Amino acid sequence: MRILVTGGAGYIGSHTCLELLHGGYDVVVVDNLCNSNPVALERVQALAGKSLTFYQGDVRDLALLRRIFQEQEIDCVIHFAGLKAVGESVSQPWRYYDNNLNTTLALTKVMEEAGRKNLIFSSSATVYTASNTMPLQETSQTGGCTNPYGWTKFMTEQILSGISHADPAWSVCLLRYFNPIGAHESGQIGEDPRGIPNNLMPYITQTAIGRRERLSIFGDDYDTPDGTGVRDYIHVVDLAKGHVAAVNYTVAHQGVEVFNLGTGKGYSVLDMVNTFQQVNQVSVPYQIVARRPGDIATCYADPEKSERMLGWKAEKDLADMCRDAWNWQCKNPQGYQA
Ligand code: NAD
Ligand code: UFG
Repeated sequence: MRILVTGGAGYIGSHTCLELLHGGYDVVVVDNLCNSNPVALERVQALAGKSLTFYQGDVRDLALLRRIFQEQEIDCVIHFAGLKAVGESVSQPWRYYDNNLNTTLALTKVMEEAGRKNLIFSSSATVYTASNTMPLQETSQTGGCTNPYGWTKFMTEQILSGISHADPAWSVCLLRYFNPIGAHESGQIGEDPRGIPNNLMPYITQTAIGRRERLSIFGDDYDTPDGTGVRDYIHVVDLAKGHVAAVNYTVAHQGVEVFNLGTGKGYSVLDMVNTFQQVNQVSVPYQIVARRPGDIATCYADPEKSERMLGWKAEKDLADMCRDAWNWQCKNPQGYQA
């Protein structure tokens, strides 16, 4: 089976390409490298002992997409390509709506033309309304997003659901990720954010290695056991395996289906810092600062539907996530740049 992976050079995409190659799938990647490094794909191929096909270009480029679908018999598409920085989306909304919506519109147009209608989309727990009770189920309320990034995920879910309802030949999986962290156990591929990290784990690893002076913990007065924010952190390799399960589901079904990809367990920021320090025997200096605007106290998944229908379940624990994130950081102190 041949899978087209848009954004395959990125953090989650590279780990997914590796799991696909391990699973015996042929992999075709399209990525414009706006937030990634081609070294990631070289390392994926070295780890797998197999090659993939790479097209460098923009998913909004219809001519490029038509060429790919002419040259490759694509059985299923995994659509990761998108911009993902929440704060940046507030200051550059047009760029986020353009990139995140027009990639999907161009991709589905060319898939329709080519008669290739199996699609998996990278959605996010950010589509859930903040007032839901935990754990979040796929049927929990969505909408009321607090930033343009979240709206692009919400709107893309609407677009793909509409397309799928209009033409039952489509098979669409909307995967709502919780908080992916960690890296492949080899330490060869991992998360390599540009500039100052927005997310917790890369900030922790960069602090531990001395690139940042100290971690700022955004608030310790939430209604949580220790007052810091609680999230459902999931190992990126588990998440990647969830995509392989979703490919098998998508090609065997029709219609649109939503799945949470999380562990079902919530950990606080202090749990993360303490586990990281303990597992890796390294210190992470931190200070408590004000809450970050837009953050909620607690967010975790009910992953039961994914286990029941995809036959997939996260297997790695917090210690694995902390150990593998640190291994990647130590082996690549400056990310792929070095
Ligand atoms: P990433 O930035 O590492 O990967 C995205 C990739 O898409 C990059 O390689 C980038 O170069 C590419 N890209 C972006 N726009 C493109 C375009 N127009 N044409 C071609 N390539 C383009 O991000 P990631 O963490 O791997 O996330 C992958 C997907 O998962 C994104 O859609 C993101 O919104 C979604 N997601 C991520 C998280 C998370 O915490 N990392 C959580 C929920 C959802
Ligand atoms: N946090 C800190 N200090 C930091 C960074 C984060 O204390 O320097 C805290 C946050 O306040 C939050 C927790 O760590 O309580 C996790 O924050 P992240 O920024 O790592 O993750 P978020 O849950 O805010 O959001 C992430 C992605 C979104 C995605 C969402 C899905 O950034 O794109 O997970 O749940 F939508």
